[in-house]
Amino acid sequence: MGVVTLPLEIVRDTTQKSAEQARLWCRQLEEGNILLFPQTPVALENAEDAQFLLGLEQSRSVLHKNLAYQVATDRIVGANLCSANSAAHARLRAILRGYSQRVTEFLVGFLVPYQARWQVDYTSFRPIEEQGRNLPLRKRNDLLHMDAFPTRPTQGARILRFFQNIHPTRPREWIVGEPFRALAPQFIPASIAPPRAESVQIRKMRKTVCRAGVGRAIPALQRSPYDRFMLRFHNFLKENSGYQSQGARAAISFPPGSSWMIYTDTVPHAVLSGQYALEQTFLVAPQAMVAPEHAPLSVLESIVGQRLV
Ligand SMILES: [Fe+2]
Repeated sequence: MGVVTLPLEIVRDTTQKSAEQARLWCRQLEEGNILLFPQTPVALENAEDAQFLLGLEQSRSVLHKNLAYQVATDRIVGANLCSANSAAHARLRAILRGYSQRVTEFLVGFLVPYQARWQVDYTSFRPIEEQGRNLPLRKRNDLLHMDAFPTRPTQGARILRFFQNIHPTRPREWIVGEPFRALAPQFIPASIAPPRAESVQIRKMRKTVCRAGVGRAIPALQRSPYDRFMLRFHNFLKENSGYQSQGARAAISFPPGSSWMIYTDTVPHAVLSGQYALEQTFLVAPQAMVAPEHAPLSVLESIVGQRLV
């Protein structure tokens, strides 16, 4: 099994706001580094909120899996809240809404070169112990993968995620692999073949639904060749037992109270253990990149020699 140099940059002082430093942080992220904040710069508003979140998993009546807050609709999605009482639901929504706002405010000041050219995506709370989860292979978090959203194609926007370990005592254990720019060429031609052209059937369907004005509701029809590739590559890596057992990797332990940030469409990652994490996703515009040559879209387009979005 190969070992990669730990792609970790530790940020102890978030008050250094020179233009050069902010640009360097953006570059480090885009090159496939993880920025680790040993003490999170975005704490929960108060200790009672943390206690509330830590109590949710124990009372299984409130939720059955990861919870996601959608800022665009101000709704909690992706969890079974049928049996939750409305006061608990409202409090949960308020906590995640506030967290999303504070993370966004922090990053506006921290990643200045991006000028907030992003879409604020889901905020999630992950209360389930990751070790030993019984999930279908393609949904497993403990296999190395790069993120690609089946229902939310990004059209080349980058997936930036900000995490926080709110477990009071236990770390969150990850492994990470070589970033996309180094990894992708290793799999030619098995997975890097130019994406298949859209089938005649799909083209006809697209025309029909566009005329009917419902195309935006059918994610498969909005997927660019880039999105289709990234989804295939996500599945390819998880299903590749050779890569999972022998691929180069490094282990990282995120202590309680820490935060970290990573482009999860660039760095293969897997969560081996840990419980209770908060996470905020941003879809960053490709035009905002300070090192665009590291973007998976640029890497792929240079390999296949054609536009993919
Ligand atoms: Fe992931």
